[in-house]
Amino acid sequence: MDNLPDIVGKRDAAVTTRRILKVNHAGEFGAIRIYGAQIAMARLLFPDIVPALHDMREDEIRHCRLFHEAMPARSARPCRVMAFWSLGGFVLGFLTALGGRNMVWICTEAVESTVHRHLEDQLAFLEGRDQELHALIASIQDEELAHLREAEEKQTARGISHALLLPVIGALTDLMIWLSTWGDSSWMRAEMARSGKA
Ligand SMILES: [Fe+2]
Ligand SMILES: [Fe+2]
Repeated sequence: MDNLPDIVGKRDAAVTTRRILKVNHAGEFGAIRIYGAQIAMARLLFPDIVPALHDMREDEIRHCRLFHEAMPARSARPCRVMAFWSLGGFVLGFLTALGGRNMVWICTEAVESTVHRHLEDQLAFLEGRDQELHALIASIQDEELAHLREAEEKQTARGISHALLLPVIGALTDLMIWLSTWGDSSWMRAEMARSGKA
């Protein structure tokens, strides 16, 4: 278990690195569950989008494995509340799929853009501290960005549901990440602002 509490500004970089791996691994697991629920629903309701969702899910499965493989060398362990991520992902995927194709892509856009912002913070933190993990996250970030772009392109309309849902799903994703990193996600953002990178 990570040592708590850390003193702001004097945190152990190894602890933060372990939290980054833990939340990224759990987040990928959640993403697998979102896409899994959406694929199951799409098969029944709108099978035309199944291949695109399937390809994205394959990427998330690979990302999840890569983060898991990076854990032992850094003494990191998977999140203890994986069931929480699993259920959260499934419910989000299920509900958005009920809302139709467009809502599926709004969900992808919201989650991927929030993840992208956190990966940016992580990259700034890891620069010069853990180049190997930095390179891994940078390569995964490219693929998450491709998911984001594809989700934006596939939306046929950007009405009220987009305006309402995007901030809600984004805030839920932020909250999950914040809880899983014991608040380190805010700390990294503040550190970046102080160093003029944000
Ligand atoms: Fe991913
Ligand atoms: Fe993704």
